Amino acid sequence: MGDERHGDPLHPGAVDQVRQGDVDTFQDPGMPPHPPRLTDLDPKAEKRGERQVLVLFIISVIGTILFFFAYFGVGHTGIEIGTKLRLQNALLGLATGLAMLGIGLGIIHWAKALMPDHESEEARHDLADEGHRAEAQEIMDTIVEESGLKRRKLLRNTLIGAIAVAPLPAIFYFRDMDRSKLGARAMVDRLRHTMWAKGVRLVRDPSGLPIKASDVQLGSAFHVIPEGLNELKEGKLNEKSKAVVLLMRLPKDKLTISPGRETWNVDGIVAYSKICTHVGCPVALYEQQTHHLLCPCHQSTFDLTQECKVIFGPAGHALPQLPIEVDSEGYLVAQSDFQEPVGPSYWERG
Ligand code: FES
Repeated sequence: MGDERHGDPLHPGAVDQVRQGDVDTFQDPGMPPHPPRLTDLDPKAEKRGERQVLVLFIISVIGTILFFFAYFGVGHTGIEIGTKLRLQNALLGLATGLAMLGIGLGIIHWAKALMPDHESEEARHDLADEGHRAEAQEIMDTIVEESGLKRRKLLRNTLIGAIAVAPLPAIFYFRDMDRSKLGARAMVDRLRHTMWAKGVRLVRDPSGLPIKASDVQLGSAFHVIPEGLNELKEGKLNEKSKAVVLLMRLPKDKLTISPGRETWNVDGIVAYSKICTHVGCPVALYEQQTHHLLCPCHQSTFDLTQECKVIFGPAGHALPQLPIEVDSEGYLVAQSDFQEPVGPSYWERG
């Protein structure tokens, strides 16, 4: 029986109390009335539902076909590389989305509109003996029968087709991660070479103005690209994504310089690749006080005073340093290309 004071604002702590014997006196309310669906009443609506499910499965297959078109076809179009990459990525995402969404929505729609909609209840019991197992088997058979998997052959076969082809794109995604492949080696080689070479001037990004050593004050930081990059007609984005550099000046006595790198800085001015060695985001934040460079993506932190060694975060490798010097007119120029591949270090660097 409920406490008379329950819900009384003068006794806010009061709770209902029920005597043990009272629970048996509650009536089982049973199931609420279950309205039939349109597809249960109208054969035309049922046919329409079938067609809708079929279309969704076909959309999934089209998504998979579109994936292969984007993967193999877009690469061979004559579009400019930057636009091509953006288009290819957009199509790959769209195609994978369609392939998965088509199957998912098709199955949901099938279950909601076409599979039997009656409700049933069954008391739980122990499934330990043979009789119960046989009963369970019978229930499973009924479910398969009622699901229409046997009867609606066209839908079933389209579903099987969509499910069979949908994982194929994953094979190509994972294949590209195989570092033992020739293509992956070629990728590493591409990261090994950038536009930097002896005598190439360091210019500001994006203005292209050359930088004099005397312009670089203590504590300042410049976003830098190689001279000539802005004038490239083809592959500009690709080259830029490898060659971007951060240029900073520190008090020279703060720099820890390893043997062989003594001449790579100009009176405390140092240049490092801006591409994070974790997964390639641009390292964009320079903390003047601590001389740390921060990658905004996963917070890898590089210490400028220790040749951009990783002091925090998931990056597995120091930022590559660009050896620099001054030309006869006082402008900063590269001494050579980077001495190691730039970018994510999960590519084999050996
Ligand atoms: S990409 Fe820089 S920390 Fe992940």
